[in-house]
Amino acid sequence: MHFTRMGEYDVADVPIIVRGDGCYLEDANGKRYLDALAGLFSVNIGYSFGEEIGQAALDQMRELPFYTNWSYAHPRAIELAAEVASLAPGDLNRVFFCSGGSEAVESAWKLARQYYVARGEKQFRGLVTPGARAGAQDGEAETMHDAIVVAATAHAPRRYKAVARHIAYHGTTLGALSINGIPAIRAPFEPLIPEVRHVSNTNRYHRPPEESEAQFTQFLLDELEQAILAMGPDTVCLVHMEPVQNAGGCFTPPEGYWRGVREICDRYDILLSADEVITAFGRLGYWFGSERYDIRPDIITSAKGLSSSYASIGAVIATDRVMEPFMGATSMFSHGITFGGHPVMCAIALKNIEIMKREGIIEHVRAKEDAFRSTLAQLLDIPIVGDLRGTGFFYAIELVKDKDTRETFSDEECEKLLRGFLSNALFDAGMICRADDRGDPVIQISPPLVAGQAEFDEITSILGDVLTRGSALMRA
Ligand SMILES: Cc1ncc(COP(=O)(O)O)c(C=O)c1O
Repeated sequence: MHFTRMGEYDVADVPIIVRGDGCYLEDANGKRYLDALAGLFSVNIGYSFGEEIGQAALDQMRELPFYTNWSYAHPRAIELAAEVASLAPGDLNRVFFCSGGSEAVESAWKLARQYYVARGEKQFRGLVTPGARAGAQDGEAETMHDAIVVAATAHAPRRYKAVARHIAYHGTTLGALSINGIPAIRAPFEPLIPEVRHVSNTNRYHRPPEESEAQFTQFLLDELEQAILAMGPDTVCLVHMEPVQNAGGCFTPPEGYWRGVREICDRYDILLSADEVITAFGRLGYWFGSERYDIRPDIITSAKGLSSSYASIGAVIATDRVMEPFMGATSMFSHGITFGGHPVMCAIALKNIEIMKREGIIEHVRAKEDAFRSTLAQLLDIPIVGDLRGTGFFYAIELVKDKDTRETFSDEECEKLLRGFLSNALFDAGMICRADDRGDPVIQISPPLVAGQAEFDEITSILGDVLTRGSALMRA
């Protein structure tokens, strides 16, 4: 099983989930659970649209069960690409389909690497030979020697490095894992793909209390710029970050952060990629989190909510500017995946977006986000609940040993609290959410986007009871 301590199931049964409806799941014993994690932050429309989506899949199966996007198109991929482009902000108009989030991140990094090659950036500046042809355009061969250099280096991009943030999760395939900022899941696979540097995420909770928001933003931006300078700005192709970082617990950006990140990327001619595998398709109350924070990325990676996880499909969305060097007569993005743009997956994603529009899912999240936050805020009275952060239908609660000093739990205490108590207690109480200590210990709450006040109350009531017992346990 994925990311699972298998030994635990020597002594306990594997939970087997057999059906779902709305925000609820049912296990093989008939017990019901409120799914406060929407599968894996991903079943945005909830579990009740199987008939309608199944019909769309069946219709597509009958018409054309599979065909490829390698040199061919088919109607569903064309329609879905157009739909995604119309929902994506600004000139993010070009769509490349893949099978999930890791592949999307992997593809984005490859796209960024090849972008600079395709744009014709000179790979070995300074090697230009005497007698260079006057007026040659950047990247054009000026002499025979130069032509050989350009050709020989076409497969060795000089801009290949990426910058991401500490504790950020970006997937598990080797490229995506290399961008990942979680030491524990990187360590068994090192050495990873060079060279990624990780800078601070936007965790405000453990910053000095006297620091202003503007100072915090400046600290983050200075650090980002210093990292790029240290790596060599003309070796960096990608800055890859989530609009709101999930791992570590819903780190929202401070005021001015994204404007500053965009400016730094522009200053050093680096592509900015927004990892919206979680935040797109309504989670933050917008089709894309980039719109919510006016991020203006060059690339967006998405997956989960694109189909509400009724299908395995992801997408890389790029601006016209990023794709421009790939549009020449003999150029191409040298990348492909058999199942990228699979017609049945596309049909499902199209139906999901149709349902989201019809049911007013985005409007619902915006209308209810304040109520969700204020309901969850009741939990701040519990001794171990230190912080509540997030936006839209995307929240985390940070658990602390001492609320006044914000002291966190030790590794052993986390083990006792999260794995020894909370995960099982929540599950026993009929709720699925995630107790996570990839950073500081947090509870992640991210229900289907069809949740309403009844579900907010139930989540808060179950968490209230379990966390109160958890507080007592840690004081004992
Ligand atoms: C921000 C982010 N990027 C990438 C991924 C990887 O997606 P997948 O599990 O579909 O490969 C995830 C998965 O949770 C994610 O949260």
